[in-house]
Amino acid sequence: MKYLFDNWKSYLDYKETLALATTLALTPPQNDRLTVAIFPFTPAVSEVIKISEGTPLHLGAQDIEAVSKGAYTGAVSAQVFQELGCTYALVGHSERRQLFSETPEIVRDKFLAALDSGIIPVLCIGETKEIREIGTQVTYLKDQLKETLAGVVLDESKPFIVAYEPVWAIGTGEACDDQEAAAMQAIIKQELTLYTAAEVPVLYGGSVSEKNVVSYVSHDTIDGVLVGKASTEAISMMGIIRLLEQIV
Ligand code: PGA
Repeated sequence: MKYLFDNWKSYLDYKETLALATTLALTPPQNDRLTVAIFPFTPAVSEVIKISEGTPLHLGAQDIEAVSKGAYTGAVSAQVFQELGCTYALVGHSERRQLFSETPEIVRDKFLAALDSGIIPVLCIGETKEIREIGTQVTYLKDQLKETLAGVVLDESKPFIVAYEPVWAIGTGEACDDQEAAAMQAIIKQELTLYTAAEVPVLYGGSVSEKNVVSYVSHDTIDGVLVGKASTEAISMMGIIRLLEQIV
């Protein structure tokens, strides 16, 4: 199984979001060895779920809050996304960590909230340019996994996914070389065996496009891709799907 996760971030307005979802729902992925999920912004989730009904598309939340019912103004819990029909939630995306000051503790709480609500968290990790230049990225990634996973009981009944997204490659057009990404992901997969006996899919994210997507998913250690910008235009989004359908 390979995965294509489309993170539409805040690139589209409401109407554009529904239009793109409709385009996708009209010619949905046909290959059951490819799991495709879209992550629209929160206000569009329920409508996009309606649009994709009857197709093999999955839905995901771009962000969740680690709260239950109560006085938490503005928060949308993992439980609500589950109720709406989301399968996945991104947790710890670097934009959340950097722009919205999400600490490792917050990321861990969100990860646990997703698991508790029956949502599959997609834990995003990745080193910055500075860390890569110093050469301590492997330790950094291992620490990011530890901050979230240490002490959590993880078995097959609580599946999760990891997305390796080097921060320097996100939204920059400077994608990580596929050999380098595959090697980093081999290390991540090995490290994950410390926390769970279950098979954890590891995706690559960071400037994935029609030009390079095949090179990533051709590696055994790359179970799929998390695509931002290139998934927000119908032509490139559909192009990526069709390319992946041919090779999975
Ligand atoms: P990008 O974003 O494809 O625009 O680099 C990837 C991501 O942030 O998941």
